[in-house]
Amino acid sequence: MIEFIDVHKSFGKHPVLDGINFRIERGETFAIIGRSGCGKSVTLKHMVGLLAPDKGTVIVDGDDVPSADSGTMDKIRLKFGFLFQSGALLNSLNVSDNIALPLREHKLIPESEVPLRVSEALTMLGLKQLEKVMPAELSGGMKKRVALARAIIARPEIILYDEPTTGLDPIMSNVINDLIIQMKKTFNVTSVVVTHDMKSTFKVADRIVLLYEGKIFRTGTPQEFQASADPYIKQFVDGASDGPFKDEDEEKLKKASDKLS
Ligand SMILES: Nc1ncnc2c1ncn2[C@@H]1O[C@H](COP(=O)(O)OP(=O)(O)OP(=O)(O)O)[C@@H](O)[C@H]1O
Ligand SMILES: [Mg+2]
Repeated sequence: MIEFIDVHKSFGKHPVLDGINFRIERGETFAIIGRSGCGKSVTLKHMVGLLAPDKGTVIVDGDDVPSADSGTMDKIRLKFGFLFQSGALLNSLNVSDNIALPLREHKLIPESEVPLRVSEALTMLGLKQLEKVMPAELSGGMKKRVALARAIIARPEIILYDEPTTGLDPIMSNVINDLIIQMKKTFNVTSVVVTHDMKSTFKVADRIVLLYEGKIFRTGTPQEFQASADPYIKQFVDGASDGPFKDEDEEKLKKASDKLS
């Protein structure tokens, strides 16, 4: 369903993706993990053509994304639901109208059926009381759920979840994990989940890739990651501050705090 072939991407002199290759099968839930700033969101944006590779390419369901003309691009984008890391709600629209946006924008169903479809999504995500509320009045976790409802409302074939459980309480995180699993079971959705939440990763993913310094550092199933003796994977999975993963910022912070004490 999605294939990355030798994808390179730099911003200025800073290489972010340095030869990324993977294939995501239809119906698969594919998790991308890695340290902050390693290029996870950038990877997702390449899938929908929001960013184009400097070298290499991205194929979605047989179409070459970077070279797609605008008609093909529209067709590609319609396959996707995208939960942006920032949520990206429209501040001028209330909760219901934000969620209905993809349906109305592309006239995917008759207007008379929109309220029922939106109402189902509101119920599914525990937002029933909030339908008329404006985004500015919502907590971070509520905004996340509204953005998620909007990402799934058009029943896309592929859903990109950028940190779906970040900022949610443990109960709501579990609701979201179950929803990701449910979307796969019911609609055979292909899912790409970017997350720092290892519990969620192990619960929802069929396969995990760990990005590091612009490359795929490790690939495996949740079982393989959990059982791994690899010190890099263990450090990541256990969230230990000490281990082979180091970065300059951490070194600087440590020096600064050593000076203080
Ligand atoms: N549009 C852009 N212009 C310039 N630099 C960018 C752009 N988008 C991303 N970057 C840079 O690319 C790198 C990777 O960013 P990205 O957002 O993919 O990180 P991430 O892995 O999603 O991190 P986080 O876990 O913090 O969300 C960062 O150094 C970021 O500053
Ligand atoms: Mg990100």
